[in-house]
Amino acid sequence: MENKKTLFSAVQPSGILTIGNYLGALKNFKKLQDDYNSIFALADLHTLTVRQEPENLRKNTYELTALYLACGLDPERSIIFAQSHVPMHAELTWILNTVTYPGELSRMTQFKDKSIKHVDNVNMALMDYPVLMASDILLYQADLVPVGADQKQHLELTRDLAERFNNRFGETFIVPEPYISGSAARIMSLTEPDHKMSKSDANLNAFISMNDEPSVIVKKFKRAVTDSDNKIIVSPEKPGITNLINIYAAFTEKTVSDVEKEFEGKMYGEFKVAVGEAVAEVIEPIRQEKIKLLSDKSYLDSVLKSGADRAKYLAGKTLSKVYKKVGLVPPVRG
Ligand code: TRP
Repeated sequence: MENKKTLFSAVQPSGILTIGNYLGALKNFKKLQDDYNSIFALADLHTLTVRQEPENLRKNTYELTALYLACGLDPERSIIFAQSHVPMHAELTWILNTVTYPGELSRMTQFKDKSIKHVDNVNMALMDYPVLMASDILLYQADLVPVGADQKQHLELTRDLAERFNNRFGETFIVPEPYISGSAARIMSLTEPDHKMSKSDANLNAFISMNDEPSVIVKKFKRAVTDSDNKIIVSPEKPGITNLINIYAAFTEKTVSDVEKEFEGKMYGEFKVAVGEAVAEVIEPIRQEKIKLLSDKSYLDSVLKSGADRAKYLAGKTLSKVYKKVGLVPPVRG
């Protein structure tokens, strides 16, 4: 690996991503791979913490692999792999569990939220989710982890576990820092702009998925909920229009104030069409490329295979160090 800092991130293959996921993660990943030794995982073991249809999980895993590539991740420069292909993630999780307290896991906001959402399936893995995530990060001695607001608490726990382990057994893990990207406006629902845009929203008009065709995108933006005062400005009293301005700014790489100027005195209808077209212009080539990639599963398999081989090498080094520190007898080779 080159003498650059190491960056790790992962996305769960739990469904078709929205433009919120794209802006929050994938779009930045492409830029980051130039500046860091970058490792991007598909967190498929995390996905199992809530009930999945096995066929869907498999399909979504290929979808996300293709999407990573279609968004410009380069499997030569970055390590792209499926978490389940690298057994060290589960193995390190076991060791880290020995320095994790149930209380700190049951206190996690996401665990509490998901326990309410999935009352019928509050399982041990759901509670252990943050420890698996810590293993993801610490195995690669990552310096930086780009995470959204909802994963900040898990990164804090990762830092605590790394420090706790280092204190108890001697320097072993790099304590990772959050990577805060410049413009991370939260992308909100198009129908209820005070809620985050979510791919699991029952109302399909609430979100733009990375699989939406241009005509669908434009139609959904036309229907987006706004207010009645026809001023295209950012304001806490105008969550709908603010969200559309943020989306337009992000997709055209303009500043919010440039967007306000551009549409000064214009009608909402005209602005909504402009937002839809700007989004479609970026999303459509990605969608087309993804369709092409999905038609060649053996290529996608080969990307995941070479990613997993490289990941295993790095993860194996860390895991051996950990096993030695805690006093496990190294297996005799050969
Ligand atoms: N839990 C993250 C999410 O759902 C995905 C994830 C798994 C992750 N392992 C990670 C993100 C390690 C950053 C680092 O968004």
